[in-house]
Amino acid sequence: MKKTLILYFSRTGNNKFIAEKLSQTLESDIEAIKPKIKSFLLLIFSSLFKLGIGIKPLTYDVKNYERIILLSPIWMGKLLSPIRGIIKKYGDEIKEIVFITVCGSGIEDKDGKFGYETVFKEIKNILPSKEIKCFEISTTLLTKIGNPQTYSLPLVSEKDFTGAFKSRFDEIVETLKN
Ligand SMILES: Cc1cc2nc3c(=O)[nH]c(=O)nc-3n(C[C@H](O)[C@H](O)[C@H](O)COP(=O)(O)O)c2cc1C
Repeated sequence: MKKTLILYFSRTGNNKFIAEKLSQTLESDIEAIKPKIKSFLLLIFSSLFKLGIGIKPLTYDVKNYERIILLSPIWMGKLLSPIRGIIKKYGDEIKEIVFITVCGSGIEDKDGKFGYETVFKEIKNILPSKEIKCFEISTTLLTKIGNPQTYSLPLVSEKDFTGAFKSRFDEIVETLKN
């Protein structure tokens, strides 16, 4: 299997949960992305206005890996500024980049203002020279969600890692194994 480093940002734990599952499955190294600013509002603001914010130095050297998998939530229909920063900073030296988001939008609103496809387009525009594979695991797939129209911010835990949500994870893993 490709030598992989997983880098994730997670505020409420969903992307961390999936990053850790993925790391166990792919037997990869894993590290949390730590933005230099901690304020939630400043992170939203910098993401909305595409402002660069620094991240604390990584323990692992991205150059030592064949593939980097980035995981992060989507906020306000935008890519988070720390992820933008990593793609801009290391994009040229990383052989293969994959982006995965555990997000609130589902298939019905994927192309809308807050949808994941809108963010995938944003990612591809940062580094048009490189093919960045993007995948979503929507929390609307969790069985406990009643109304997929609202971003009710469900939190994923071990007992929810089942059904359609788990199947989507397995699908992505299959793609990444090839
Ligand atoms: C301020 C805020 C804005 C959000 N906006 C979106 C959005 O535009 N599209 C979307 O798909 N999900 C959106 N979400 C849902 C998160 O992406 C989702 O809850 C994610 O799983 C949280 O990841 P985390 O637990 O790793 O932090 C938003 C969540 C927050 C807190």
